[in-house]
Formats: sequence, structure tokens, C-alpha cells
Amino acid sequence: MLPKANAAVLCLAASLSAVSAQTFQRLGTCPDLGCVLPPDQQDFLPGQEFDIRFEVHAPKNGSEAFNNGVPDEKFTATIAKDGHRPKSIADFFKQREPELEKWTFSWFEDLFAKDANTPSVVNVASKAYRRVALYEPGEYTVKLKYYNGKTTTAKWTVRPLATKKKAKNVIFFIGDGMTTNMITAARLLGHKTVNGRYQSLLAIDDFPVLGHQMTHSVDTFMTDSANSASALYSGHKSSVNAMGVYADSSPDTEDDPKVETIVELLHRIWGSAWGAVSTAFIADATPIALTGHTRRRSNYGILIDQALHGVSNYSWTRTDGPDAYFGGGAEQFIPGSGSLNGKDYYAEFAKKGYSVSWNKTALLAAPNDQKALGIFCKSNLPVWLDRNIFTENLDSLNNDPSGAKGPAKDLPGLKDMTLKAIDVLHKRGGKKGFFLMSEGASIDKQMHALDYDRALGDLLELDDTVRATIAKLKKLGILDETLIVVSADHGHGFDVFGNSDTKYAAAQDDDRAKRNAVGVYENSGLSQYTQPREGVSYGTGPNFPLNWDPRYVIAAGMGANPDHRERFGVGKEPRTPASVGADGEVYVEPTDRPDGFVVNGTLPTDQSQGVHSLTDVPVYAMGPCQETFGGTYSNIDVFYKMASCLGLGQPRNRTRHDGDSGHGGKKDKL
Ligand SMILES: *[C@@H]1O[C@H](CO)[C@@H](O)[C@H](O)[C@H]1NC(C)=O
Ligand SMILES: *[C@@H]1O[C@H](CO)[C@@H](O)[C@H](O)[C@H]1NC(C)=O
Ligand SMILES: *[C@@H]1O[C@H](CO)[C@@H](O)[C@H](O)[C@H]1NC(C)=O
Ligand SMILES: *[C@@H]1O[C@H](CO)[C@@H](O)[C@H](O)[C@H]1NC(C)=O
Ligand SMILES: *[C@@H]1O[C@H](CO)[C@@H](O)[C@H](O)[C@H]1NC(C)=O
Ligand SMILES: [Zn+2]
Repeated sequence: MLPKANAAVLCLAASLSAVSAQTFQRLGTCPDLGCVLPPDQQDFLPGQEFDIRFEVHAPKNGSEAFNNGVPDEKFTATIAKDGHRPKSIADFFKQREPELEKWTFSWFEDLFAKDANTPSVVNVASKAYRRVALYEPGEYTVKLKYYNGKTTTAKWTVRPLATKKKAKNVIFFIGDGMTTNMITAARLLGHKTVNGRYQSLLAIDDFPVLGHQMTHSVDTFMTDSANSASALYSGHKSSVNAMGVYADSSPDTEDDPKVETIVELLHRIWGSAWGAVSTAFIADATPIALTGHTRRRSNYGILIDQALHGVSNYSWTRTDGPDAYFGGGAEQFIPGSGSLNGKDYYAEFAKKGYSVSWNKTALLAAPNDQKALGIFCKSNLPVWLDRNIFTENLDSLNNDPSGAKGPAKDLPGLKDMTLKAIDVLHKRGGKKGFFLMSEGASIDKQMHALDYDRALGDLLELDDTVRATIAKLKKLGILDETLIVVSADHGHGFDVFGNSDTKYAAAQDDDRAKRNAVGVYENSGLSQYTQPREGVSYGTGPNFPLNWDPRYVIAAGMGANPDHRERFGVGKEPRTPASVGADGEVYVEPTDRPDGFVVNGTLPTDQSQGVHSLTDVPVYAMGPCQETFGGTYSNIDVFYKMASCLGLGQPRNRTRHDGDSGHGGKKDKL
């Protein structure tokens, strides 16, 4: 239905057509001057708690300039379930009318405006309704009315109820940045073929169900790990750098409208145990998005505090902290500039009953019936290749988790951390079960650095961890009641296109001749990574290459690059492919692989690393509800599938304080 034409609406329509926000956006989810958050086309789990924010924008200048920059403060909003009369938001959710908020922000309309440093200024009037929920499945229409006749409409869908817990436990493995292409390459490195037949396979190759998820953000087709993790954990897409919220335009990065995550739901409804394990620093996007609610993923100190205490500045559901929390990132725990308000977060966790481990020996000895924190180094954990093959690279590090000078010693790997987390969660979850997220983080981090071998080593470590997890669950007698999902949050444009003869390449002097070392099609040969080199045994067992440094190596590349030098084959030292030159732009790093050939980049000249790619990513599933994971769907559906399998779609405000004891407890009659 077309709105009645009036002068204001016509003028607005004309000015809006001048803007088609792409590189920069006024507010990604808000193409009109009235914004509804959550925006149009969003889905909700029944009973999932969320905040609503309305914003009315009055651009003061720029191509959208409107109403002399004075926002409508008398805007109204309604919500209607299909077939029902609209009610005001306050009436519908039985809340008091919140106070009006006002602020100003600015943005660039395009790259020309940025070059000229002429931002457009926008004044805003807003209201936020905190902590509401929709319990009845169906379609809802939210209408924001402003500027005397203008309307912004959002259609929301509440998914079907899912009250029955079909899986007692969920273990969600995330290979950060992991694509099918990388999985294929890792299999070639770690597993042997005879005449084209694999003699062994990856653990994930044996999963019964495979699906495909689309990773787009709510307002861009490219994603980062914050908002993609958030989509996987909450069923709500977000914006780059944001998690657990829909990004608003206010200056406060913590006041954005929140959405409840899977561990918050699981804790509130069933009282289950939960944990996160990562080879990244634990405040990094993928682990921290389980509890993080922020528009700025780099608010690390605040995010660690949120993991332990919940969001303290706004009334919000909280988890009482993780039961098992293992990774890197001592910077946010050692009292100092990296921790919130300089506090000692080791002590904060210990105060709440956590055991604190700084190395593998202490981790393995930590009691299983106590909440467990394990922070094993500063920054990210060194990658599998450096922990197992090029161990001399660890000695020069200054990453002791206590804050003392010198390298972190006695590091656990992803497998050690994951198996210990299962022990703790199994014990602490008891009848109520558990949720564990385990992340192979440096698949992504090393792909960013174009270090394919380090990335694939960590992919094989993730697969080895999946294999050991299945064996462990079997031993504990809980494999049948545990849903295991292995997926990624996004991809990188990596693939293999042949081999490279490293000996021939090294003997050539110029760049073009070096490229002739690459063998394509019939010259690609077979994997030499699975053939042991005489006199060399890494002792890293099956599932990993027997030779990381064969003469014939994989030739691989990325869909998008900074300028860099390519010399296929493993580097003994971690890689920095490009760096900032004297003019402030990024060029080939002179000391990186000097014997390689130059590949000029395709990325903007301020990017020193590779970037994420558009590709859909695989979803492997095994266990209860596995059949729901086949097909092609959005990243948010991974949340709805897991949440439905856990019985988290409830028709009323259900908290453990109602007296329900969760799994195995009183029957839910609703
Ligand atoms: C808008 O006004 C601000 C000053 O308030 C100015 O800095 C900016 O350049 C103006 N932008 C445009 C697009 O005119
Ligand atoms: C659900 O109940 C809890 C505890 O009584 C309360 O704090 C919370 O605000 C309620 N949530 C909603 C959406 O009403
Ligand atoms: C709470 O809000 C205050 C003021 O807005 C801010 O200084 C503080 O850092 C916030 N705390 C957290 C944990 O977000
Ligand atoms: C491991 O940590 C414990 C303290 O939790 C310490 O006593 C021990 O020396 C550490 N081991 C190594 C190898 O650093
Ligand atoms: C890469 O680009 C530089 C200019 O930035 C040019 O001088 C050089 O020839 C190019 N190299 C290749 C291999 O294309
Ligand atoms: Zn990344």
C-alpha cells in the first residue's frame, strides 16, 4: 500500500534516491530516516530475550538533509501479531515508556566525501525498550511512525516452539575461516592415497550429514568473525565488529539493542553447564561472542567482564560465567592496561570459584568438579606447526601468561583443552548437560598471513580434536546424546592449483622462471607430504603430514592478496607477507621469502593481510537432530537448529528459578 503523498514524503523520497549507501552507510540496517532495531526480516526463537530500539534521523547536511536537522521527538511505534490489532510497544510488552535519548553522529557518504573530509552530520532521537520477548510463533509487524506520515515497517518472524530437549549436550567446533577448499588441501597433506583412493580420511569426512551455510552480515555481504559468530550463537545477524547486538548509531558502544545467545538461553532455561575453548586469545570474537554484547569487538576488557558477570550496565540475562574457559589472551587477565579498569581478572575469576591454570600440567590436574579457567599465554596460542615442528620459534616469544618475562612453557593444544573441557562440563553439567564451543582460530589467522601451511596444520589439529572428542564421548557413554556440529564462521579465498618443485624454483633467478616450477594438471603428481623423509620423524602421529617440507609442495593462492612474494612450501618462521613502506602504503615485505616471486596485490593499498571471502561454508553434523543440518541455509539457521534440538524455544518466560530442574526434571506440560 502506498502512503498518501504529501510534500514531506515526496521530498524525502527524492533525496533518498540520491544516496545508495555501499562503502559507507548511515546505519546499515536503516535505509529510511526511521530505524527499527531489530530491523525488517529478522527471526526470533520463541521466548528469546532481546531489546528494541527506535531511531529517527534528521540529517543536518549532505544529500539527505531534512527538517533542518531537527529529529521528530514525537514518533510512535506499534507491534501487531498477524490477525491482531496493533498495540503500542509499551502496552504490548507491559513496559513503561522509556525516556527519549538524543545524540549526533556523522558519516561519509562516499569515498569522495572522505577524501574531502566532509562528513554528513545527523541528529537523532531514540527510545530503547529493554529485555522483551515474543512467545507465540508467527509473523509480527512493527511500525515506526514519524515526521507526520512517514512509516518504517519491520516484519519479524517468531519460529516454531521447540520445548523438548533432544540432545543433552552440544559440542560446536568452529574452524575459523575454514572452507571446503582448505579441508580438501588438509586431507591431501595428512592422508595418503593409492591410485586415487584415500587410505584414511579426516574425522569430519565420516560425519553422516553435511550442509552449507551462507555467512552474510545483516548489512554487508562480507562478514567478520564477530557478527558471524553472533549469528551462529543467537540467530540474529549483526554488523562487522558487532556481536550480541544490532548496531545502533549512538556513541556508546555498549548500549546497542541486545539479543540473547545460546549459552544465555541454555543457562536460563535448563541451567546447563557451558564452556569455550579457543586457540585465539579468549576475548577474541569467536569465543567471546557467546556472552559478548557490544558494537566494538575490540572492547576486550569489557568483554571478559561480561563473560564472568554478564552485562552489568543494563538489566540482562546472565550465565554466572563459563564452567570451562581455555585459551590465550593473558593481557585481559593480568592487572594492567589490557584488563578492565586495570583489575586482576585471574583474581576476579578465582573469587567466583574458578581454578586457574597457566600451563598444560596445571590444566590436566585441575579438578573437574570446579569451574576452570585456563589462560596459557599472551595473545593467540602459538600454532600447531610451531608447537610441534618448529619449536625453536617458541623460545623467542615473550608471552608468559603470568606476565613474567619470557616464553609461555608447557602449552596445551586444542585437543588437550577440548578434552579437559569435556571432563569439566560433563561433571558440572550432570543431568542438565552442557554446551561447548571449541575453536581452531588460527586457520583464519594464518590464512590472513598467507601462511597456508600453518593454517592447514591448525585445520588438521581441529580434525584431530574432533576425532579424539568422538572417542572421548564414546568412553564416557554420552556419544549418542551429544550433537556434534563442525562448521566455520566465514571463508578465505584459498585453493590449491598444482604442485611446485622447490628445488627447480630455487635454481631460477627471475620471477617468471620461478613460476615455471609450478606443475599443473598432469604435472601435479601426488602428495609427498604423506611420504616420510629418510631420517626424519616428527612423532606427531597419524592424521598429520609425515613430511612438512617435501621437494614437491602444494602450489596455492588466495582470491585476494596484498602485494607479497610467493615461494610455495613451508616457512620455518611465521610469515609477514607485506608491510607499510615509507609512503604509508603497503608493499611486499622485503625480508619475507626473498627467494620467491612477486605477486602484486588486488586489495586496497592499506591492507597488509588477506581478507575474508564470500564463500558459503560447510556444516558437518553427527548425533541427535543431525538430519536437520542437511541442505543450504543461512548462518542464523545453525543457531535455530541447535536451539531447537536443545528445547530452547519456550512459550513463556521460563527460568530455572521456576523450579524446573532441566533435563530429566519435571515434565513440561506446555
Ligand atoms: C556538514 O557540516 C559539518 C559541520 O557541522 C561540516 O564539517 C561538514 O563538512 C558538512 N558536510 C557536508 C557534506 O556538507
Ligand atoms: C523473565 O523473568 C526474569 C526473572 O523473573 C526477569 O528478570 C526477566 O525480565 C523476564 N523476561 C522477560 C522478557 O519478561
Ligand atoms: C558501564 O557504563 C559506564 C558509564 O557509561 C562505563 O564507564 C563503564 O565502563 C560501563 N561498564 C561496563 C562493564 O560496560
Ligand atoms: C605450571 O603452573 C604451575 C602453577 O600453576 C607452576 O607451579 C609450574 O611450575 C608450571 N609449570 C611450568 C612448566 O611452567
Ligand atoms: C608489481 O607492481 C609494481 C608497481 O607497484 C611494478 O613495478 C612491478 O613490475 C609489478 N610486478 C609484477 C610482477 O607485476
Ligand atoms: Zn579473519
